Amino acid sequence: MSDRQLLVSKIENGIVIDHIPAGKAFQVLRLLKVDPKARALIAQNVESRSHGAKDLIKIEGSYLTSKEIDLIAFVAPSATLNVIEDWQVKEKRRILLPEQIEGIFSCPNPLCPTNAEYTPPRTRFDVEADDGVESIKLRCTYCDSLLYYGSILDYINSDGFSLEGGGLVSREKIEQVFLDILMKKGALRLPPNPDEPFILKSGRPSPYFVNLGALTDGESLAAVKWAFASYVVLLMEQGLLKDFDYVFGPSYKGISLATLTCEGLKELYGMDKRYMYDRKEEKDYGDLSADKVIVGAGYFEQGQRILIVDDTITTGTTKVESIEKLKLLGKHEVVGFIIAVDRQEKMGDTENIEENGAVQYIEEELGLKVFSIQNIQKIYGRIKDSLDEDLRRLWVDYYSKYGTEKLE
Ligand code: CTP
Ligand code: ZN
Repeated sequence: MSDRQLLVSKIENGIVIDHIPAGKAFQVLRLLKVDPKARALIAQNVESRSHGAKDLIKIEGSYLTSKEIDLIAFVAPSATLNVIEDWQVKEKRRILLPEQIEGIFSCPNPLCPTNAEYTPPRTRFDVEADDGVESIKLRCTYCDSLLYYGSILDYINSDGFSLEGGGLVSREKIEQVFLDILMKKGALRLPPNPDEPFILKSGRPSPYFVNLGALTDGESLAAVKWAFASYVVLLMEQGLLKDFDYVFGPSYKGISLATLTCEGLKELYGMDKRYMYDRKEEKDYGDLSADKVIVGAGYFEQGQRILIVDDTITTGTTKVESIEKLKLLGKHEVVGFIIAVDRQEKMGDTENIEENGAVQYIEEELGLKVFSIQNIQKIYGRIKDSLDEDLRRLWVDYYSKYGTEKLE
């Protein structure tokens, strides 16, 4: 095998970023924020068929590429992105500078509305380049101020720079980003002492409470948006989830999840979907027509497909209620559920504990797929060393009684 062949030996599944200007591979790798555990091959100064030397990066595994990957064009304007599946190049595209960039760079003009102290709008720049990468300028669409290439590069190469979740998306990264934000923002609540567990809707005394209500600041919303939208697209790419027309979020917690999912799908992946949610106070109206009960139903057309998003799944009853409410729409198809955290519990209440887990019930009895970003086994694995013995026993006992999985 020649040197060239050795360096560029083929991969079975993954991403190849090719035609990177010689010497820029590590900069690109940083931008991609590749999971440190990923198998990656970086080749510097390999011979290029067309022009001199180039760098290239190969990353094994299954990844999604959000639109933000185009920011790589700032450091590697000629690069190509190849998606490899089953040894074949399934998709190839040039990485091109986007025409506009929103929300990433800040405007250098202190008087720009985007630098206002209270409720500034997201920054937005037009990308201008007349001659080669060094000539790139960003023009603020609010105040016309210019950001020149040097400052753009400084910013991209600084530690503060991060693409929401990064340009390359994998299942592991989605799990990680979501768990990090849950922990960082205190959305996973533990009882003050083992005698005061949280009493759930089912009456069960839980050793923890997942409170997505803690995720109300901008940083949390960005992470939730990124995680939900990326998970949806990943599942679709893997053929596990059918395309759909609507995202339905059961009130109240589901509403913001549905809106964030739709916004993320559009912004990061260019997919335009609508959302709907139900009114809880529906019964007071006495009118059970769909558009009274389901906000957003006005655009619904018979036969359309709906994805349901929600925070947790405990005993499955709320999910069944959602399915019932959606019947008001007439002919429709639910393509599946996406849940932030699966509590991995059996159906029933405090004393009546059914054989089936809630997820199993929905999948087997209702024939609907449930996908969860995180589950309690993984979360427990991450925190158990920090729990004192009594609290740990509470978790283990709770799951030996109510869980579909045992903890230890
Ligand atoms: N590649 C790979 N594993 C595969 C198939 C391709 O690692 N199973 C890599 C190749 O080594 C190359 C890139 O993906 O770096 C693109 O592959 P291909 O289109 O076959 O190569 P070229 O024709 O050289 O690409 P281009 O036209 O972009 O120069
Ligand atoms: Zn400005």
